Amino acid sequence: MASERLERIRVSGDVPRHVAVIMDGNGRWARQRGLPRHMGHREGMKAVRETIEGAVEAGIEILTLFAFSTENWNRPEQEVAALMNLLQLYARKELPELRRQGVEVHVLGQIERLDAQTRRAVETIVNGTRGGTELRLNLMVSYGGREELVRAARLLAERVRDGTLAPEDIDEAALAGTLFTAGLPDPDLLIRTSGEYRISNFMLWQLAYTELHITPVLWPDFDREHLFEAVLDYQRRERRFGRVQAP
Ligand code: FPP
Repeated sequence: MASERLERIRVSGDVPRHVAVIMDGNGRWARQRGLPRHMGHREGMKAVRETIEGAVEAGIEILTLFAFSTENWNRPEQEVAALMNLLQLYARKELPELRRQGVEVHVLGQIERLDAQTRRAVETIVNGTRGGTELRLNLMVSYGGREELVRAARLLAERVRDGTLAPEDIDEAALAGTLFTAGLPDPDLLIRTSGEYRISNFMLWQLAYTELHITPVLWPDFDREHLFEAVLDYQRRERRFGRVQAP
């Protein structure tokens, strides 16, 4: 039976096309249970599954998950290794189900910083899900918003140096076109779990007009009903994009 929240989302009809999520609180979830931090991340994988299924059910087109930030490289070596192992495990375990659901996976970020084994796992899941039409899933891995903007500036500068771009032609579209998310609409809704009111260097350019939904739920406890609740919250907002009335 479809959930009551899902019914309400469908009646409203205004489903966000692109939802981004800062998946926070794995460490606290583990600590509350006297478990090592990596157990929190492992449990977080279930929440990833729930969120993907919920997104497909709700008719969301693009789901972007912040899986590993450039700052996360500074965590203890053991935890970084655990997160890389988890990414490999995820790619191996979830591939058939993601395919069945029609999810097309993209991995965005400084992929070159990943170790060879993790890079191979990433390639496997990206190649193995290509052509999925139900949902585009962006896994942001070794991603940082400022780094992405620096990279964009460098790419544009190289084109100017090569004579293929005039400085006066650098506009918002040109910059957006050099980001990892080139060609995608900006997120309509950003969800952050674990009750922190921060952007944490996530999609700094793309979140300019995004609606924010912050929930105290720790990421491993997040399920599709929490996603639906966030969408309903979004549907109650009036988006004005700096104008007086909604466009
Ligand atoms: C933040 O919690 C979460 C992360 C740094 C990693 C996110 C990874 C997952 C949800 C698991 C796997 C997902 C995929 C797609 C393989 P935290 O450790 O900062 O929590 P804390 O703030 O409570 O310490």
